[in-house]
Amino acid sequence: MISVRMRASLKGEHVSGAERIVEKSSLDKTVIELLNRPKDYDFININVELLKDVFFIDKALKIESFEFKTVKEAKTKLIQILESYVKKDILSKALTLLENRTKNIRGAHLLDIELGELLEQDRDRGVRTVKIDWEDREGIKSILLKNGFTERTVDALAIATKNIECGVLAEICWSDDPNYVSGYVTVSNTKTYYRLTPLKEKGDPFGGRVYFISRKNLDKVVSCLENKAFLIRSLSEG
Ligand code: COA
Ligand code: AMP
Repeated sequence: MISVRMRASLKGEHVSGAERIVEKSSLDKTVIELLNRPKDYDFININVELLKDVFFIDKALKIESFEFKTVKEAKTKLIQILESYVKKDILSKALTLLENRTKNIRGAHLLDIELGELLEQDRDRGVRTVKIDWEDREGIKSILLKNGFTERTVDALAIATKNIECGVLAEICWSDDPNYVSGYVTVSNTKTYYRLTPLKEKGDPFGGRVYFISRKNLDKVVSCLENKAFLIRSLSEG
């Protein structure tokens, strides 16, 4: 199978990224689809990489959705979900990292769940989860859209599911898109993706991800996130 990854930028700013894992027979169609995806750009790069191994994840994380009137209420729920798994001071460090942004980083922060230290080598880059897709992307997309979710959820759920498979113990994410205010937290113990709206105010151009991991697994987790290719077979029931 083949990993196809597209990234586009405008005036030096990253504006679009997407990826697929497809059979060779779908390569032409996929490259054209990704080429037509960004609305406006002055640079586009499409990587095509033959994969030696592709692993399967049977079920995605279970989705639970919560909507609130204010960011404050949604954050209170986020803290309630994570407080049994992440120490209070480490959780507030993670939230401070995401809330006090003056620029977006290019990947996720890795936070030691035991001691609260940042573990990524490059603080402006973080670590990216790549080589992840759905076995039947169109089928999954149509179910999620029918259930009121967005195309973004299709990709975010896939990334979050791979993260847990690679040894991430919990995650916090909200988008850097000023118009997209939903975010999520995941917990490996419950294998659940808790979608929370709104985790930021409309118009806010900053977002990010924090992956809570165990320091002793650092190298293994990073190698899995960056290199191991997975296809997810189905959604979880419920
Ligand atoms: N944000 C900002 N810059 C990015 C980026 C991102 N998400 N992805 C790539 N870049 C830029 C960086 O400058 C990067 O250099 P770096 O490695 O020093 O950070 C450069 O492009 C080269 O990136 P590369 O590692 O070659 O990218 P890739 O071929 O592995 O592809 C993407 C990564 C684009 C597939 C991935 O970042 C992505 O966007 N995945 C889809 C995520 C998604 O679906 N999001 C929506 C819902 S959450
Ligand atoms: P997005 O949900 O695409 O708006 O991304 C939100 C934030 O997550 C970005 O600002 C980056 O900090 C980070 N990010 C983007 N892509 C990835 C990825 N593939 N893996 C990990 N983190 C990412």
